[in-house]
Amino acid sequence: SSVQVLAPATVANLVCGFDVLGMALQQPQDVMTVRLTEKPGIFIQKDDVYNLPVEPEKNVAGASLLALMEEWKAPVGFEVSIDKRIKPGSGLGSSAASSAGAVVAANHLLGSPFTKEDLVRFAMNGEKVASGVKHADNIAPCIYGGITLIRSIFPLDIVQLTAPPMYVTVVHPQIEVRTSDARQILRKEVQLKAAIKQWGNIAGLVTGFLKNDYDLIGRSLEDVIIEPVRSILIPGFDDVKKRSKDAGALGGGISGSGPSIFMLSKEEYVAKGVEDVMIDVYTRLGIEFKTYVTMIN
Ligand code: HSE
Repeated sequence: SSVQVLAPATVANLVCGFDVLGMALQQPQDVMTVRLTEKPGIFIQKDDVYNLPVEPEKNVAGASLLALMEEWKAPVGFEVSIDKRIKPGSGLGSSAASSAGAVVAANHLLGSPFTKEDLVRFAMNGEKVASGVKHADNIAPCIYGGITLIRSIFPLDIVQLTAPPMYVTVVHPQIEVRTSDARQILRKEVQLKAAIKQWGNIAGLVTGFLKNDYDLIGRSLEDVIIEPVRSILIPGFDDVKKRSKDAGALGGGISGSGPSIFMLSKEEYVAKGVEDVMIDVYTRLGIEFKTYVTMIN
C-alpha cells in the first residue's frame, strides 16, 4: 500500500523567536509518496532536479525514517519519492518538509502507532543531517499546522498557538544560504540589554497572536540579536523590509535562516502590494527571485 502526503513550507523563527517559533504556509508544498515494501529497508528514489543523496543516513527523509524504525522494531520497508517544490536552501523549511512528510506518511502506513510529538522527535534527525543541529521550529508547524511554540526540545514541549487571519508574502531570492553557515556566523554571547528587548518581543508576539491584536503583532516583529548579523547575507533585505512596512505590512523579516524574506499583512491587497515591492527590489538588483502570496496553513 502507498500514501501521498503534502508537506508544507514553513517559516521558522518568526523574527524574534529564534529556534522557538514557526508557522506553516499554504504554499509551496512538497508532494511525497511513500510505499510499504516487502523488503525491509529504506529506498529513496533519486530526484533529477536537486540530486539529493539517496543513502538513507545522509538523506533527511531517510534519517527520519531510520529513527522511526528504531522504535517500531518489527522489520519494515519504505520506498520514498519526493516531488520537491520547496527549494533546498531557501529558508522555507525544505529539509523539514521532507523529514516531516516521510514520518507522517510512514506512521499512517503502519496504522498510526505514533503521536505527533513522536513524529517531531523522529523528524528532528533529518534536521540534524541537514544543518548539524536538531531544531524543531520548522518540523513542529509542518506536522501540527498553524503557528507553534517549541518551549523546549529536550524534552519536547510543543504548544500550538492560535492567531488571527493573516496573509504572508514571501520572496525567495535565488541565492543559496546554508543553514549551517547561517548558524556559524552568529555570536555565542548576547548582551543582557538585547536579551531583554528580545524576550519582550517574543512575549508580545505570542500575546498578539492569542489576543488577535494586529498592532501588538506588528510592534513585536523585531529581532535585535539574529537579524543584524544574518541580513548581511541577503541583498535587498533592508529595502524590502522598509518598503513593505510603508506599504502597510505588519512586519516581517528573514524566513528561517534565509535567504527568503516574509512579511505579514492583515489584508490581502496589502499582501499583494508587498509582493510588488519585493518584485521591484529584486528586479532592480538583477537577482532572480520567486514570490508567494499565501496564508498560514
Ligand atoms: N531556527 C533555525 C535557524 C531555522 O534560524 O537557524 C532554520 O531553518
